[in-house]
Amino acid sequence: MVRHFLDIHRLEAADLRAILDDGHARKAARKGRPMGWVDADAPARDRVLAMIFEKNSTRTRFSFDAAIRQLGGSGIIANAGDMQLGRGEPVEDTARVLSRMVDAVMIRANVHEDVEHFARVSTVPVINGLTDRSHPCQILADLMTIEEHRGPIAGKTIAWVGDGNNVCASFMHAAPKFGFHLNVACPAEYHPDLVDLQRGGSAVSLTADPREAVAGADVVVTDTWVSMGDGDYEARLEAFDGYTVDQALMDLAAPGAAFLHCLPAHRGEEVTDGVIDGPASLVWDEAENRIHAQKAVLAWCFAG
Ligand code: CP
Ligand code: NVA
Repeated sequence: MVRHFLDIHRLEAADLRAILDDGHARKAARKGRPMGWVDADAPARDRVLAMIFEKNSTRTRFSFDAAIRQLGGSGIIANAGDMQLGRGEPVEDTARVLSRMVDAVMIRANVHEDVEHFARVSTVPVINGLTDRSHPCQILADLMTIEEHRGPIAGKTIAWVGDGNNVCASFMHAAPKFGFHLNVACPAEYHPDLVDLQRGGSAVSLTADPREAVAGADVVVTDTWVSMGDGDYEARLEAFDGYTVDQALMDLAAPGAAFLHCLPAHRGEEVTDGVIDGPASLVWDEAENRIHAQKAVLAWCFAG
């Protein structure tokens, strides 16, 4: 069976835990080495990763490129608009062709189902690099960051404040798999999809009150109020009034609570400068951990 990494809820808890452990181990093993140093086991030796982007990206683009190099492989990056995909070639045909040319494909797509369709016919592993519905690689990096700074994720309480978006969905998928509790605070009109909420089961609580969600939490997480593809900027700014993660909100969390944001941040909207630049913020480690977590994902895919 080809090992795709499409969504956290589709993977076994034991596999997810093993991937996270491998991410930690790979980071520790290369401490002090230059970025281009190849991991001793080089699990991607002779392998080629295609990275396809339908949307903008800084972290995902650079971290996957760094990741495949550090695993001993090489990568090809393409904007979908430059491919025949951008002129209407079917996703499935693209998948059939790329399966003959590369060993794995990472896709950032506008429409989640396109990644599903790609994976259905691909004979090489497919990795979800963000869609309108989820962002599983981000959540692995986030959990890795929490564990690095605050110890095991199992038993922790995380508060999500803001939009019930793609990143929130993957957090909800992760909660029962990794044994943490997720308090989600969203305005009613921007709440998460019911299906994703159900995937979180009893590990997820939903409220419209950010203060209630953050009370006693070990980690506070937010993301942009206006994701790529969202058109209703003004309406969103109005709806999210009161959802800014500021120091007053952080003060309601547990003592020593951490702050995470997948970035890019919109300072003054979902988070204040004081919080993102303050002592609780782990956002730069979080960004770096995209490399280490994704190396573990790639190694897992190639081991299949
Ligand atoms: N967090 C994240 O995925 O960032 P990019 O959009 O820059 O890839
Ligand atoms: N929710 C954001 C995440 C960006 C990394 C978006 O989809 O634009």
